[in-house]
Parts: sequence; C-alpha cells; structure tokens
Amino acid sequence: MEIDRKAFLDSLGGAEGVKQMDSEARADAIEHHMLSQLNTEIGAKQNGEQKTAQTYPTVAEVEAQIETRSYRQGAGFLVVPRKGGNVKKLPPMPEHPTLADFFKLRFMETSNHVLQSAQLALKNGMSEEVILACLLHDVVQEIIRTDHGWWGAQLFELYVPEKVSFAIRYHQALRYYPDPSVGYEYPDLYRTLFGSDYVPPPYIEATYQAVRKHRWYMDARMVTVNDLYAFDPNAVVSMEPFLDILGRHFKQPKEGLGNDGSPVAHMWRTIARPDQPL
Ligand SMILES: [Fe+2]
Ligand SMILES: [Fe+2]
Repeated sequence: MEIDRKAFLDSLGGAEGVKQMDSEARADAIEHHMLSQLNTEIGAKQNGEQKTAQTYPTVAEVEAQIETRSYRQGAGFLVVPRKGGNVKKLPPMPEHPTLADFFKLRFMETSNHVLQSAQLALKNGMSEEVILACLLHDVVQEIIRTDHGWWGAQLFELYVPEKVSFAIRYHQALRYYPDPSVGYEYPDLYRTLFGSDYVPPPYIEATYQAVRKHRWYMDARMVTVNDLYAFDPNAVVSMEPFLDILGRHFKQPKEGLGNDGSPVAHMWRTIARPDQPL
C-alpha cells in the first residue's frame, strides 16, 4: 500500500503539526492512517465487486460454462484443486488419524470457512450441536461437492449426535430458501453459481418442505444463518475454541478415522489417500 504523503500530513495538521509530535505519536499516526486507508481500499474493492456481481449469469449461461472447464463443478477441492497447476504431494497422515489431523492435513480448502462459521455460531450463542454442525458442515466438499449436505451427514453421523448430522444434511437444501424470521436471505453467491433464474430441483424443494415442519428445523436453519457471512479469507481461526465441544460430542474412534471398520471408513480413507489410483 502506498501512503499519500500530502493527505497524511494534512490529516496531522501539516508539517508543523508533525514536528510537534514525538516519535511514538508519529508511529501511531502512520499506523492509524494506513489502517484507515486499507479499510477504504477494501471498501472500494467490495463496492466494485458488488457492482459487477449484480450482473448475474442466467441458468443457460451457467450451463454454457461447463465446457469451458477441465473438471466438473461437483469434484472436491482436494481431488481437483481450483488453483491450476500441478498438485503437491500430500503430507502423510498419522497412524490413527483424528478429526483434528484431517483438519490440519486434508481440509485445506474448507477449514477456514467452517472454522469461521463455527466461530460465528459460538459468538451468536448457539447450542453446542449447532456449533459442531457449523464446524463440520462443508468439509466433505474436499472430496465431493454435489449434494454435499447428504454426503457430509453420512461422513459424520456415526460419530456425532443425531441433531448434528441432521443439521449438516439439511443445511444444503435450506440455503435456497429465505427465512425472514431469522434474517436469512437467498445468497447472492447462488445467483452466480446457479444462475439468476435458477429453480432448485424437486427433491430440494420437497426436502425443504419436510424439514420446515421438523422439530429440528431451527438447528439446520442456524447452520445457514452462520454460514452466510463466513467467507473472510484473512480471518484468523483455530480449532482451539472447539476442542471441548469436540471432546463432549465427537466420538473419535481409537483406531483412527478410516481404520475403524465402520460403513463410512472408506470415505475417510479416500480423503486420507486421494492419490490412490483405485
Ligand atoms: Fe454447505
Ligand atoms: Fe458453508
């Protein structure tokens, strides 16, 4: 970032004003000026992005994008990285991998987002089940994105309370439907991803109608509420605030995830070893 010297001096009362400041006050002033300039730049960038984002593609245009890519949108981020270039060799997993190991060594693309989402849920005073659901809700997108609510719930349901897997499974369908009672609006991101005239398929609509009437509707809905604003790539996040909640509600198998012979062990092994050809 470049400092506009004249604007900076003017803000301090010109060269005379600066002369009267001690070195600490000058350092503070520079830092303050840079911060406010940074905020202005971020604000301008966001406004610019909003302006361009208002021209959303149509469903037909989104469909026309398919053949411009070398991968399908449903492929997981770990399997087909979106950054381009060659993939890197993955660090080895420990012998008995825990959920924390997967977060650290395999959930590289999704962990920032879900940790932010869980942090927001924690700040908003959500129940431990909702916080845990937020922490886990999108990580399955490392291997598969299509219908990730269902895939994600399946990946976790043997290890978490039923309410948590319910919230993970259904947050996906609820994302398409506003709920003004809790301030949830249809996300602009979906206008870009699916097209401005997109209508969710019948199974999503039917799922929404059924979940709306379920006694745990609000638990799934709260994942969408805390999901929406959790996309700051620079946010500092860690697992630390959630270790107690995980300790209370996540049944970590002693053999390690992928080694416990459970019906979903293969899903964990696939995430652990995505370079296996078969
Ligand atoms: Fe999601
Ligand atoms: Fe999400």
